[in-house]
Formats: sequence, C-alpha cells, structure tokens
Amino acid sequence: MAGVLAMASLIDDAGVRMIPMNDLSRGISRDRLLLEESIRDVLDSGYVVMGPRHKAFEGALAEYLGVEHALGVASGTDALELAIKTVMPAGKSVVLTAANAGGYTSVAARRAGFDVRYADVDAETLCISLDTLEAALDSEVGVVVITHLYGRLTDIRGLVEHCHARGVRVVEDCAQAIGARLDGRSAGSFGDVAAISFYPTKNLGAIGDGGAVVTSDEQIAREVAQLRQYGWSSKYSIAIPGGVNSRLDEIQAAILLARLPLLDGFNQRRREIVERYRVAASDGPLRVLAADGEHHVAHLAVALASDRDDVRARLEAGGVHTDVHFPVPDYAQPGLGSAQARLPTTHAVAGQIFSLPCFPELRDDEIQQVCDAIKALR
Ligand SMILES: Cc1ncc(COP(=O)(O)O)c(C=O)c1O
Repeated sequence: MAGVLAMASLIDDAGVRMIPMNDLSRGISRDRLLLEESIRDVLDSGYVVMGPRHKAFEGALAEYLGVEHALGVASGTDALELAIKTVMPAGKSVVLTAANAGGYTSVAARRAGFDVRYADVDAETLCISLDTLEAALDSEVGVVVITHLYGRLTDIRGLVEHCHARGVRVVEDCAQAIGARLDGRSAGSFGDVAAISFYPTKNLGAIGDGGAVVTSDEQIAREVAQLRQYGWSSKYSIAIPGGVNSRLDEIQAAILLARLPLLDGFNQRRREIVERYRVAASDGPLRVLAADGEHHVAHLAVALASDRDDVRARLEAGGVHTDVHFPVPDYAQPGLGSAQARLPTTHAVAGQIFSLPCFPELRDDEIQQVCDAIKALR
C-alpha cells in the first residue's frame, strides 16, 4: 500500500475532526525509545549493511513464521521478484496471479523477465480460489503468486496442492498478511517461497523500505541469498545470472527486530477495529469484510458498497477519510500493458471496494466516530 505515509488527525473547515487512514507518527512516538536504542546500537557497532542485527532479524523472523530461512531484501516488490526468479521452472515463463492486488506482483514478474496472466477472484474472499485458479491455469504457467489480500490467509493448502500436482510452483505474497495463521501455521510457510514487505504502513513496518523472502527450501534460500547481492557465490564472484543489489539495511533490520515482538498485539488490535466497523455496518448499505480469527490480520478494513462514491462522500462529511485498495485492476493499468480483461468478479469488485481507517494506534474515540459515521449511512 504505497502512498500515504503520515497524515495527522485534522479538523476540517466545518469543524469536524477528520480520522486519518493512517498516522505513522503515533507508532513512532509510542516506540520512540525502542527505535532510538536500535539505531544507536547500529551506529555504535559500525556495521551498517548485513551486520549482526540483520542476521538476528532474519533468525527471529524465520522462527516467528516457522520456516527455515528468512532473507532480508530492500522491499516487498524485490522479494517477489527474487522469489519468482528462483522458483520459475526451466522452460516456463508465465506467472499467474490475481489482478486486484495493486500491481506489485505484475511489476515484479515483468522485472524478472516473465509474462503475467490473471485469474479471477472469489466474490467472498476477494482472493484466488480453487475454482478461479483451475479456470486460469494452463500448461504455460510456471509460477502462481497467491496474494493474501487485506491480511486474509487464503485457503492456501488446497491451492498449493493443486499447483504442485501440475508442476507449478507457488509464491505466497504475504505483504499484507504477516502473522496470519491457519491451524497454527503461518502465512508464508505453505508455498515454495513467500515475499514479505516492511513498508512503513504494513502490519510490521520499518521506518523506510524493506522486505524479506522466506522459505524452508535450502536451495531456494541459497539462490535468493546470491541473487540479492549481484548473483555472488562469494565476494566478487558472480556465479548466477539475474542478480541485483537488494539488501535490507542494518538500521531497518534493527528496528524490525525490536518491533517483531509487538506484531501479534498490533494484529489483534487491527482485528478488533474491523469487527467494530463490521457490527456498525450491519443492516446498512456497506458490507465490511470480516477479519475474525487468526487467519486474518486485518491489514486493511475493506468495505463494499454499490454506490461507493456517494457512501465515501457521506463518510468524508462525517470526518472519515477513506481510500481504495485498489482502484484499477492490473489488466487495465496502462503501464502493465496487458490485453486480458475477462475477469468478471475482479472487474465488479473494483468498482465497489473501499478502505476505512485501520491502524493499531487508532484511538477508541476515533473508532467510535467511524462507527457513528457508518451507522449514519442507514
Ligand atoms: C499485496 C502487496 N504486495 C506487494 C507489495 C510491495 O511491497 P513494497 O512496497 O515493500 O515493495 C505491497 C505493498 O506495497 C502489497 O500490498
């Protein structure tokens, strides 16, 4: 969700307090001492790239997710690119994914040198389902990227099984879903490999860009470790093609290491916010997607309304900022230049979805103001 980095709570011209979509300054103030200590430690150590905190964070992240390997990279998009490059089977060159997830996978797949095709999404979950996957999967597809959109861990086991039975590899896009669990297993531990983003508004956010590739496959981990540094097998020896410079810097790693223990609490708070909105919306013109369980980490509070523009205008008048994630499906993005467009659910939903304020530092009185504005729509 690149875009709004910080937006203070404001009063509009009519004297209505505006509830922001996000306000990073609150998390920064809350964690100030922790952040300063982390940054000071890095400065004191003199290791600014791939140092001890980077290593410690990779270890802590792998343990948290229950995977063997975590590799820090510079962004979630880089993580997707390297993951896709690493698992694309020889002789294949097509990546299949959803078209409603902001274009990040499309950009990453193109950068990796592959073509992208799209599967439709399920009308309830807004993620790829077994049915929509089956309808789109053909023998040219080598990699499927499953995005756990809005923080919802999809029914990933069936999808992975279906793909593996056809020799297709699976990348999980966990940019929005870090910490989501299904029967005790974490998002990112089901596919061949997974990509994570630490963009500041993410559930585990850095103070800048960052990302990680996670996997339990030794070979994939080794290859990603080489690709993120020029394709090096050791310093100055370029052993494999396709290498880039994509490192998670030491300061961001130290910050993420300090914040990781707070993540489950942040996720719980996000779920509570979405549940309050969902209850407030009952019997009204909005359908707020539920985020009611460990499988959902409520990265975004997403609602659907058939008269979206009108609903958003009324919420804005009630002091509630909203946004749309994401307004234009990938196949309709001029910069992605794809001709494919026959995805009825993706198309229909793009005209109805919008997001309500949802971040862990939102105060109870602000949540109540959003709920009141939602109720006033009835
Ligand atoms: C679903 C999804 N995938 C990938 C990304 C890319 O992450 P980054 O911004 O760190 O490149 C994002 C967020 O920006 C995202 O929301």
